[in-house]
This record gives sequence, structure tokens and C-alpha cells, in this order.
Amino acid sequence: MSTNRLRARRSCLAVPGSSPRFLEKAQGLPADQVFLDLEDACAPIAKEGARHTVVEALNEGDWGDKIKVVRVNDWTTHWTYRDVITVVEGAGPNLDCIMLPKVQDAEQVRALDLLLTQIEKTMGFEVGRIGIEAQIENAKGLINVDAIAEASPRLETIIFGPADFMASINMKSLVVGEQPPGYPADAYHYILMRILMAARANDLQAIDGPYLQIRNVDGFTDVAKRAAALGFDGKWVLHPGQIDAANEVFSPSQEDYDHAELILDAYEYFTSSEGGAKGSAMLGDEMIDEASRKMALVVAGKGRAAGLTRTSKFEPPAA
Ligand code: GLV
Ligand code: MG
Repeated sequence: MSTNRLRARRSCLAVPGSSPRFLEKAQGLPADQVFLDLEDACAPIAKEGARHTVVEALNEGDWGDKIKVVRVNDWTTHWTYRDVITVVEGAGPNLDCIMLPKVQDAEQVRALDLLLTQIEKTMGFEVGRIGIEAQIENAKGLINVDAIAEASPRLETIIFGPADFMASINMKSLVVGEQPPGYPADAYHYILMRILMAARANDLQAIDGPYLQIRNVDGFTDVAKRAAALGFDGKWVLHPGQIDAANEVFSPSQEDYDHAELILDAYEYFTSSEGGAKGSAMLGDEMIDEASRKMALVVAGKGRAAGLTRTSKFEPPAA
């Protein structure tokens, strides 16, 4: 299994792979993940050169502890295999994942897995370390998302690609991420929930895609909050101004994080023989049990991954 599944991906910054200026600038930004794009942010005539620009940026850049991803072109083009071979042979040890766009079925993920394995073996890299991120961007991908999410142990995330998806289903709007006019409910609920269920059933992260009105940070924040409320782990960011908002929306508040850690400590104490071996107990005015522990683990895990530290401590009740 690849290694980054539990790392925070609250903000996933898109960086055009053909732009040395953006590749340089992205290194200093506080995003959890960067993905260097060989797909739609790269003009067809710039794609060949961009492969080499991306390899150089991965090998020579200072990316700190960001998760480093390259988005290759999808398997319906003629670019995919060369994208993968050039990037992984050239910069494999400095790369965490390959992002595969417009995934339509499990075979496309398996094909990438096989190609990665051959490159890793040929180059003497650790086999299986490089992960896969799968973008769901059309009706076929969504219908097959359950099989896609279990197609390879390399998978780390399932990502919603709203722009291509809206085009694929003929949604009557050009404003990516916003609700289409005329529909009185949330037009994305079904799509997001299907992706989230497939991700959770396979211990993968679920990531929401871009919001294209990059100057409207309030609009970005509202859309990000909707995905975070459902359980999504992070969202793409296209501009430095969206990074802080994403990091904040997808981190638990300090209060929720402290509360979650308290529940974990309290539950451990009350279920021990010293605490009375109880299956359920009171923490202040709240009853906690095994299900509370599971909920607290999620929030505590996200808080720890986001680097939060505790500001309170569990005190066992006086005997
Ligand atoms: C991202 O790739 C999208 O199509 O929204
Ligand atoms: Mg797309």
C-alpha cells in the first residue's frame, strides 16, 4: 500500500506543469499538496516540454513536506504512457502520487498500476510506493466509482472534477462549483455522496475539485464547507488566496479537536479495569461509548494531521 493515505490534504494546489514561474512560486505556499499538471492546464503543444520541466522542478525544487503529485493525461489520449514514463523514470523518488484524470473504469487504474510497477522494477525504486489519485469527471466514472475505488492498493484519493463532470452530464451552467440556476436543491449532493461512500468503503481520502471564481474567496469557502460537512478531506485550490480558506475549513476547530482527544482519553480510562471496565460512561454532561470513540478518532486524526496541539487534559474523576 502506498504511504500517504493518512496525510492531510486539506488544500491541493494545481500548478501548470509548463510554467517554471508557477512551479517556483508554488514551493513557498502553505498548501498540503501540490499537483503539477500535464493535463488541462497545459496546452497540447506545451505537453512534451512540460514533462521535462516537471521532472526538473520535482528533483531540484524545495517542496518542504508537501505531498507531491503529477497529473498525467487521461488514457483516451496518446500522451498518458509517455507522461508516466518520463515523469516516474526522471523523478520517481521525489514523487508521491500520479493523478489520473477522467477515470472511467477500474481497468484504467489497473493499467496505471501495472505501468508504475514495471517502471519501479526497471529503475530499482521501491515497488508500490507511488500512489494513485483517481479523478471522477464523467457519468461513466461515477457509475463505476465503487469498482474504481478498489482497483489498486496504490489508490489514495478519489477526486471530484466538477468542470469536466458538468460538461459530461450537460449541466446547464458554466459556473464551476456553484449551483446551476433553476434547480432548487443541491445539484452535487448525489455525486459527492457516491464518491464519498466509495472512498470511505476503501479507506481512501475524498477530495472536492476546483472552484473557478478565484477572486471570490467567500464563494469558495461556502462550497468547501458543504464538502467538509459531508466528510470530504480537502479541496483543490487554484490560487494562493484559496489556500488558507481550505486549510481552515478542512481542519477541526481547536475546540472540537480538544473535545475529541478528551473523549479518546476518557473512553480508554472508563473501559479499563481502573476506570470500572464500563462500556459507556459520562464525560461531563455527555454519554460516551464505542461509537463516540470512533467519531472522536476521525476528528482527532484530522486535527493531528493538521498539526493541532491539545489545550486540555483528561482528569479521571476523584474516587
Ligand atoms: C477538474 O479537473 C475538473 O474538471 O473540474
Ligand atoms: Mg477535469
